[in-house]
Amino acid sequence: MFSSLRSTPAKTVTVTVNSQSVAAPEGQTVWATMALAGQLTTRKAALSGEDRSAFCAMGVCFECLVQIDGTPNQQACLRRVRDGMHIQTQDITETSKAPIQGIPE
Ligand code: FES
Repeated sequence: MFSSLRSTPAKTVTVTVNSQSVAAPEGQTVWATMALAGQLTTRKAALSGEDRSAFCAMGVCFECLVQIDGTPNQQACLRRVRDGMHIQTQDITETSKAPIQGIPE
């Protein structure tokens, strides 16, 4: 579905996307890395639990929120991959037990 437009190979880094090891060009966005790996779901909708994914790809809509290295609410379209990064689909819904950063329980 998605393919990279880069013709020259860049230095690659290795990240984990939902337990899948993925090699990505250094500096590529988290969203592009997920899409190229075939993992399009960035988060679950808070109320319905439906799959959500990047919409604007420029930091406006917040549809692309993911968990990076254990920290939720990171915009996948703006964050760039670095070696060893752990990226997870964010699953903070009304029924989940996941903590919402900044809101004490
Ligand atoms: S896709 Fe819209 S903010 Fe990331």
